[in-house]
Amino acid sequence: MGDECTAVHKLHVIFGPVVRTGPNDVDIADGAALSAIYVEKGGFKKAGFYANFDIDGHKSIFSQVEPAERAPRAKAVLSMFSTSSLRAGVHTIYQCVDRMVRRMKEEAKTGKPVNVLNLTRSLATDAVTAYLFEDSYGGLEETSGEMSASGMVNAFVAVGRFFYLPNWMFRWLEWSNEKFFADHEVNASMMKVDSFIATMVDRSLKDEKLKGNYAARLMKNGFSAGEARAQCKDLMFAGTDSTGMNLATICFMLAKEPEKYARLRKEILERKPDETELQTLPYLRGVVREGLRLSMANPSRLPRIVPPKGYTFNGIFLPAGTIVSCTPFELHMNPDVFENPNDFRPERWENPTSEMTRDSIWFGLGTRQCIARNLANVELFCAVQRLVEEDVLKGAQCCQERIEILQWFNSKVKGEKVELLWP
Ligand code: HEM
Repeated sequence: MGDECTAVHKLHVIFGPVVRTGPNDVDIADGAALSAIYVEKGGFKKAGFYANFDIDGHKSIFSQVEPAERAPRAKAVLSMFSTSSLRAGVHTIYQCVDRMVRRMKEEAKTGKPVNVLNLTRSLATDAVTAYLFEDSYGGLEETSGEMSASGMVNAFVAVGRFFYLPNWMFRWLEWSNEKFFADHEVNASMMKVDSFIATMVDRSLKDEKLKGNYAARLMKNGFSAGEARAQCKDLMFAGTDSTGMNLATICFMLAKEPEKYARLRKEILERKPDETELQTLPYLRGVVREGLRLSMANPSRLPRIVPPKGYTFNGIFLPAGTIVSCTPFELHMNPDVFENPNDFRPERWENPTSEMTRDSIWFGLGTRQCIARNLANVELFCAVQRLVEEDVLKGAQCCQERIEILQWFNSKVKGEKVELLWP
């Protein structure tokens, strides 16, 4: 239904921070539980539902629940996400950002509503593919309609709707959906993405220039070309929807609050940051954090399994095998931690409380937190910097009161549009 978070929130209001949401499921709306569930001793294992995000018969770094199976795959690519690698590759991100800024400026001149979500998603796809695969997908070059990879991304987002089904039921649903309700546009998008990835992976085996890319690193560590293709497809999905949604939310909020946009512009123009200082600008950092907090790319439960010895929280014992979770929605919208939580207030991050820092789980937490969080941050900071330097959002008006989402595992923006208008 897409109302999981608000429904669970209502239960928390009635029953308090620990709520049994199903026969074997417990949700905890208290940041004090985060460390034990997600961090200490590697955190509890991911729940079996994650298998519903397997790709083309392969487990991805995201869907693999067994730490020992995930470790060699993650190890093969981890250094690509380090701050030093990203600093060395930041020009690639700026090239993509500059293309997006040009597109937004051109579309703004038409006087028609501009779907910034399409542009930010295109940026996210190009940044992930250009930086990690050394082969840009070219989403920003596609000037008519939605970016061609969107159908694939939307289909994967829709998987989150059925996240909690047992894997056998999920597989049956997926099979029958493909058989009886095949969607031509989604199929065309899948085929285009598959063909892009297959060509890139194939070239990674032969082309010296690509020998350090994500696919080549996996294959050099003994993983098959088939698996490399699946892992790359997973990144294109994970990296497009999330960063795209966050950046579109930031554009929307800055257009809605011109005085905050003016303050941000003043800071960026006065400080003229290079890439080493960019993430230290206090107001810019507040803008990005508020975007991440409010946009809810992953709003719902991050489910884990209670280990054999059980788990006690605030005197409540959860037996082994219980599926326990905290949710970004519940923690990011907690008025005791974030005053007036629905407000976009970058200034709240000037002096964050320890609870604010603890409860900000937009990238998840612990060993299974987002592997690409540094890359996502670089994309967001560079994109906001350039949009502001070029004054692109000046005079932009929001075409909707707020951004409404369906609260699936990966949230879906209703109508798949975040529109701005430059009258
Ligand atoms: C602002 C953007 C992003 C947000 C908010 C975000 C959010 C998250 C969250 C919440 C998780 C943990 C999910 C869980 O515990 O169930 C996660 C994991 C992951 N993300 Fe991201 N993500 C972002 C960008 C990206 C990008 C750009 C990529 C790829 C290029 C990516 C790839 C992954 C992968 C592979 C995992 C699984 C890590 C593991 O389980 O070991 N994400 N992300």
